[in-house]
Amino acid sequence: MEDLSPRPGDLEPIETASRDEISALQLERLKWSLNHAYANSPFYRKKFDDHGVHPDDLKTLADLAKFPFTVKTDLRDNYPFGMFAVPREQIMRIHASSGTTGKPTVVGYTRNDIEMWADMGARSIRASGGRAGDIVHVAYGYGLFTGGLGAHYAAEKLGCTVVPVSGGMTERQVTLITDFKPRVIMVTPSYMLSILDEFHRQGIDPRDSSLAAGIFGAEPWTNAMRGEIEEAFDMHAVDIYGLSEVMGPGVANECVETKDGLHIWEDHFYPEIINPETGDPVADGEMGELVFTTLTKEGLPIIRYRTRDLTRLLPGTARSMRRMEKITGRSDDMMILRGVNVFPTQIEEQILKCAGLAPHFQVELTRDGRMDQMIVHCEATNAAAGEEARRASARELAHHIKSVVGVSTRITVHSPGGAPRSEGKARRVVDNRPKS
Ligand code: DLL
Repeated sequence: MEDLSPRPGDLEPIETASRDEISALQLERLKWSLNHAYANSPFYRKKFDDHGVHPDDLKTLADLAKFPFTVKTDLRDNYPFGMFAVPREQIMRIHASSGTTGKPTVVGYTRNDIEMWADMGARSIRASGGRAGDIVHVAYGYGLFTGGLGAHYAAEKLGCTVVPVSGGMTERQVTLITDFKPRVIMVTPSYMLSILDEFHRQGIDPRDSSLAAGIFGAEPWTNAMRGEIEEAFDMHAVDIYGLSEVMGPGVANECVETKDGLHIWEDHFYPEIINPETGDPVADGEMGELVFTTLTKEGLPIIRYRTRDLTRLLPGTARSMRRMEKITGRSDDMMILRGVNVFPTQIEEQILKCAGLAPHFQVELTRDGRMDQMIVHCEATNAAAGEEARRASARELAHHIKSVVGVSTRITVHSPGGAPRSEGKARRVVDNRPKS
């Protein structure tokens, strides 16, 4: 793999600033953000008043814990534009999450917000090894989802040539990668696997492609999956994190030279980890739920947003800003089987240990009498597609899951191509338990 480490002069001063400088900037910006929310968003004014807090109560960064949380239903309850802190005319763009049930979550950005987002996205692409002049293939979906347009403006800002392909039409994805020769691809990791299959179907060796770096996010994925993709394409696979309520892709990103978790762009987003049951902040290094406060956003300032993503904060390495560990999963995706907490990422890790299995999978939850059951649907590789080989792979996977994760599962090894494919965010869990 090519060495994509930053060159001298590549980094912005804040990326190598001291912790004291970062904290001072955060405190100043946090005061601004709380005041802006209180003064201009009736929602936050009421929330702070009801909670008995005022922006002046924040004297130190730790004082943020006195302020109330914001949750997804707050955005739903104020649908569509009730959370905005500027007149609608100053909102330059709207995005929204599809939301599986009910109304979507709507977010809005001012011109400055869009600029800041592009800056943070450009910083993220650079951290991943991309540079001005690169061709960037964007296969995140364009539209209300923040992935496509977020990646697009980021790549333009860095000075790249953007190919705005969006998701889907996998055959064409491979044609365009082969013909335009991008150095960087931005796509969900699960859709990258569908693209990988298509390379093989067309008889093209993915290792011969021009791709030097892939910037993968929007869903949880494991270091085992990183290894799989890096080996298949002979390229770097780097993690990008973000969420529409806070901004979109580019809230945090791994550095290609270390790949040791995602540096949070702490000059714009203030992270906390809380105990999801009590809501109390926990110390750096401890696992819990990630909470974000925006420090500079105008259109939709967000104070202590509970992401439901589970991770922990770690000290900076390649950059001064703190890292978050690769996300284990969302609390919503956690399955509890006979008292054991199970995340889809744990299943992914075990599947990737089995040589006879392809990396595509979906977990089905069913109920057998009063007991919840988990069925792992996965798929054989071409080389291990025979009935005997599939039975052996199923036994091997059941054994790994039992001994590492600690639960008994039923395994269905489908023939090659038989497991569901993703064109964006993969749907990892299907709940077929009867509604009680
Ligand atoms: O998924 C933004 C995004 C687009 C991020 C493209 C990265 C790349 P939402 O649709 O609002 O926004 O979903 C946000 O997706 O709370 C996480 O649960 C999950 N997620 C996003 N990035 C990662 C990641 C976009 N790198 C939700 N690892 C978040 C794990 C991720 N989960």
